[in-house]
Amino acid sequence: DSIELGQYDHYMQKEIFEQPGAIANTLEMVTGASALSAGLFGAEAEEVFARTERILILACGTSYHSGLVAKYWLESVAKMPVAVEIASEYRYRDSVSLPGTLVITISQSGETADTLAALQHAQREGLTDTLTICNVPESALIRQSKLRFLTRAGPEIGVASTKAFTTQLAVLFVLTLVLAKQRGLLSTERESELLAQLRHLPAAIQRVLECEMAVRHWANRFAPKEHALFLGRGVHFPIAMEGALKLKEITYIHAEAYAAGELKHGPLALVDSQMPVVVVAPNDALIEKLKSNLQEVRVRGGELFVFADRDVEIEPADGINIINLDDHAGLLSPILHVIPLQLLAYHAALARGTDVDKPRNLAKSVTVE
Ligand code: G6P
Repeated sequence: DSIELGQYDHYMQKEIFEQPGAIANTLEMVTGASALSAGLFGAEAEEVFARTERILILACGTSYHSGLVAKYWLESVAKMPVAVEIASEYRYRDSVSLPGTLVITISQSGETADTLAALQHAQREGLTDTLTICNVPESALIRQSKLRFLTRAGPEIGVASTKAFTTQLAVLFVLTLVLAKQRGLLSTERESELLAQLRHLPAAIQRVLECEMAVRHWANRFAPKEHALFLGRGVHFPIAMEGALKLKEITYIHAEAYAAGELKHGPLALVDSQMPVVVVAPNDALIEKLKSNLQEVRVRGGELFVFADRDVEIEPADGINIINLDDHAGLLSPILHVIPLQLLAYHAALARGTDVDKPRNLAKSVTVE
């Protein structure tokens, strides 16, 4: 990965399109093997995982969102209780530190001041089993953690994180499988099925990237808006949060994400014809519930922009815009669904003429408090 722009107009666009390769590189050690092993996370990993009873994830910004996705995976597949905390909150609050906790930090840079301080706080509390998922080999988080898995996204220049996020998710999924396996929760058959899905992930992302033109079309209609709502449910709720964060960061449009079931507890009051509502609609167990949430928005005149798996039956109609994702990847679906949201933010920013790679007031890496 060179730091030249090449055929792209911006680093963010380049980094969005580098995701298939970034994931393939990150997973090289995993997908090349016929079986998963704890050793992927470091020499002491097997021993540490054997005494792990719960997980505490600490991170900031986009990396925090990947922790939120991981909670759904780790609890459902590895039956491991998980708490995810914003590093700047955790480091300053009195919390209860229980033995058997594995502390995981997630960071693109490995130098974020709050994440580093949160790790040190946990260590002072006696939580010495620590793992970092990080994109920079010689970073402070890598040096200060017992276990590590390097994402191999290559240099990320755009302030709004894209390929670091999806590579973090890929690693967190591998961690989920490794823990499930070590806890006797993963049959050999299921393991090879999920490994096959991981191997297919770069190709699946490549197909999702083909929706760029359609997303660009939507983005032009988004550009004049000042507010937007993002909805998701389950493991796709943090994806809606990440979509809203991307839009805020680079377009300065005020965007909020809600778990769709919470609509009626507040945000529905904001919905009118001026409020675009972006919906993450995977074909999962909650799809029928999500559809009735969409009805609630439509009845109030809100315009829907829905990213739906191909086999989700939602018909396009007046005020209901649909872009279909061809490939759906089961448990890995959140990694696919974030891609069009990245593209939406990118193209809306272009239409608004903002500085995509260096948004006002933000820094790539926040190394001071
Ligand atoms: C800054 C960046 C974000 C990033 C966050 C955490 O706010 O602008 O893109 O998600 O820091 O950074 P880290 O390097 O710890 O992932």
